[in-house]
Amino acid sequence: MEKAAIASAQWRGKGNERAADQAAVDAMRSALGALPIDGIVAIGEGERDEAPMLYIGEKVGISDARLKVDFALDPLEGTTICAKYFRGALSLLAVSERGGFLHAPDTYMQKIAVGPRAKDAISIERTPAENLIAVAEMLGKPISDLTVAVLDRNRHEDLICDLRQAGARIKLFTDGDVSVAIETCLPGSGVDLMMGVGGSTEGVLAAAALKCLGGNIQGKMVYRHEGERERGAAMGINPPDRILSLEEMARKDVFFFAAGVTDGELLKGVRFGNERVETQTLILSTHNQLFQYVTTLHPKNKF
Ligand code: FBP
Repeated sequence: MEKAAIASAQWRGKGNERAADQAAVDAMRSALGALPIDGIVAIGEGERDEAPMLYIGEKVGISDARLKVDFALDPLEGTTICAKYFRGALSLLAVSERGGFLHAPDTYMQKIAVGPRAKDAISIERTPAENLIAVAEMLGKPISDLTVAVLDRNRHEDLICDLRQAGARIKLFTDGDVSVAIETCLPGSGVDLMMGVGGSTEGVLAAAALKCLGGNIQGKMVYRHEGERERGAAMGINPPDRILSLEEMARKDVFFFAAGVTDGELLKGVRFGNERVETQTLILSTHNQLFQYVTTLHPKNKF
């Protein structure tokens, strides 16, 4: 994942989302391919017929290895962020024992995410205002002091209107909802909740991270057409629009890794020096609820 971050960082600000994404995918696939594990991509770059690499169901690693694991991955989360050299592009990988992640089609998901103190206060079935009341009570502050992060998309006009009418502050962001979901658990981030519709891949990755941090996320698939709905049902999401709890999206113990591509709230981006390339990685685990940061200086001649 650090290799994916470095590969895509070379495309920062070049306006070429495809190339940045492909560079990240190639690098992550080649790194995973060398591992002594029998791995399956449970959540990846898309369906087999749409994504030639790291597609859902692809086997990675050395297939007769004894260690059998599932991956949820997004080699470049924030392709537009990277292409425009905005803040917060990441390379993401979560790993669990076999069967540890929800199998879901690569489409959209409605999400609500909070940090540990409000983890029992949310319900995706309730209205935005009802969720605000419950979260405000848990956090012991008025709704007017709550900040809700929402992806800046036209589809969220009604949600934003409801949240503002209820008195909350909205923090709009352009892309990268995994990072923002994690921010709800980061002390001092100023983000109390994240709400809205984003990618389903990102929903499962956020669930993996929030499971490690003691936060909570609930989701509901948002299908674009009947084919996706049928695919969801075939993958076991029945009824296809039922509530997906954190425990269903991230079912077992998990390790979650995020490497910064561009600087952001969570991580520093890749720094290219004369002889070394510096990366910063966040490591989370269900075993300890720690935010662990690793800075690595890679020899430049290896890239
Ligand atoms: P990509 O890196 O795949 O472009 O995803 C970025 C992202 O902002 C996600 O964080 C978010 O879940 C999703 O796109 C939202 O999708 P859309 O841009 O179609 O609204």
